[in-house]
Amino acid sequence: MAKALEGIKILDFTHVQSGPTCTQLLAWFGADVIKVERPGEGDITRGQLRDIPDADSLYFTMLNHNKRSITLDTKAPEGKKVLEELVRTCDVLVENFAPGVLKRMGFSWERIQELNPKMIVASVKGFGPGPYEDCKVYENVAQCAGGAASTTGFDDGPPLVTGAQIGDSGTGLHLALGIVAALYQRNTSGRGQQVLAAMQDGVLNLCRVKLRDQQRLAHGPLKEYPQFPHGEFGDTVPRAGNASGGGQPGWILKCKGWETDPNAYIYFIAQAPVWEKICNVIGKPEWITDPEYAKPAARLPKLKDIFATVEEWTMTKTKFEAMEILNKFDIPCGPILSMKEIAEDQSLRATGTIVEVDHPTRGKYLSVGNPIKLSDSPTEVTRSPLLGEHTEEILRDVLGFDENRIAEIRNSGAVGQAQRLAAE
Ligand code: COA
Repeated sequence: MAKALEGIKILDFTHVQSGPTCTQLLAWFGADVIKVERPGEGDITRGQLRDIPDADSLYFTMLNHNKRSITLDTKAPEGKKVLEELVRTCDVLVENFAPGVLKRMGFSWERIQELNPKMIVASVKGFGPGPYEDCKVYENVAQCAGGAASTTGFDDGPPLVTGAQIGDSGTGLHLALGIVAALYQRNTSGRGQQVLAAMQDGVLNLCRVKLRDQQRLAHGPLKEYPQFPHGEFGDTVPRAGNASGGGQPGWILKCKGWETDPNAYIYFIAQAPVWEKICNVIGKPEWITDPEYAKPAARLPKLKDIFATVEEWTMTKTKFEAMEILNKFDIPCGPILSMKEIAEDQSLRATGTIVEVDHPTRGKYLSVGNPIKLSDSPTEVTRSPLLGEHTEEILRDVLGFDENRIAEIRNSGAVGQAQRLAAE
C-alpha cells in the first residue's frame, strides 16, 4: 500500500532527540529519510546510556527507525560536495544543530536556495530570535524556559520537570507539522521555505492553559486549584499538584495496595454531569441534594475534603477494579500505569503503539510505534540503521554516482568506514 509521504526525500541532519523524533515520524509516513552522520561516531546517542556493550543504545534505536544512514564528513571538501548533491536531490533538510552550525559548514539559507530553490529547511532551536537565540538547549532547559517547570509539582516543593519529553519530542512533533504544511504550500508556490520550531515555544504551546490561568488570576483566586480557599495566591500561577488543568476538578487518589505499590493510584475526575452517580458509587447519596454539595460552584471550596471521601472508597479497590466500576457509570478516571504495565499491555501491542523490533547487534527490543494512525498509510516499524550502513547505496541509487566516483569519495576519507552487519 502506498504511504502518505512516499516520494519525499528528507536530508536528515538531526541528532540527539528533538530532530530525530520529527524525521522518524516522517519516515513512518513513508518519506525516504537519509540520516547524515559524522564518520566514526555518528549521532552521539548511539553510544549514550548503553545497556549492551558495542551495540547501538536504545536511546538511538528508539528514535531512528525506518531511516537510512550515510556517514559524511561535511567539513571535508569531498564531503561538502556530496552534501551539495544531497541538497539538490532532497525535498527537505531537517536539522537541530546548535545555532550557527549549518552556516559555519557553508550551508546558509541563501546557499541552500541557490542549490535548490524548492528545498524546505526545517530547524529545531532552543529559542526563537531574542536574547537567548544563541544558546544550546536540552530537554529540561526547554521545560524550564517554556513555563512547564514553574507550573509543575506541589506548591510547597521546588519546580519539577516532567517525564514526558515535551521539549524534545514535543518540538519534534511541532516541526513535523510545519514540514508537512510547507510541503503542501510548495505544491502551489513552487518554492521552499524555512520552518523553525523553537523548543521554548513548543513547550509554551503545550502550557497554554497556564498562560490562561495567569490572566484569570487578575480577576480573583483560581478556585479549582488546591490553594483555594485557604492558601495564598501570589501574582503568578502557582504549582497545582495533581489538579486538573480544565474545567472539571480532578485529583490522584490512593487505591488498594498503595502502601507497597508506588503506582496503586487512580486519577479521578469529579465531572459535574455525573455528580449524582459519583455520590451513589462512593456511598454519599445525601450529597446529591445537599445545597452545600449539589452544585459545582458550591463544591469548589471543599474539593480537598470531597476527594478525601472519594479516596476512602478507592482505597477499597485496586486501580483496575475502581476503573471498571467507575467506567460503568461514565465517571471519567484513569489508572496510573507503570512502564512495566504499559510494556505488557496487549491492546497497545495490537494497535502497533508498542512494537517489538529485531536488531542485528542488540537483538529484540520494545519500542513505541507510530502514535498517529492513518487508515490509508499504515506504519511498519523497521530497525534503525547501523552507522553508515547505506552510504554506498545512497551514493549510487540516490545520487546516481558511478563506481569510480564512489571510490574517489571513499579514498578521500570523507565517508569513513561503515559499520558492518554481523552476518557479513
Ligand atoms: N561532519 C562534520 N562535522 C559535523 C557533522 C558531520 N557530519 N555533523 C556535525 N558536525 C559538527 C558541526 O559542524 C559542529 O561543529 P562546529 O561547532 O565546529 O560548527 C559540531 O559538529 C557540533 O554540533 P552541535 O550542534 O553544536 O553539537 P553539540 O553536541 O555541541 O550540541 C545540542 C548539542 C543539542 C546542545 C545543540 O545541537 C543544540 O542546541 N541544538 C538545538 C536545540 C536542540 O535540538 N536541542 C535538543 C537536543 S535533544
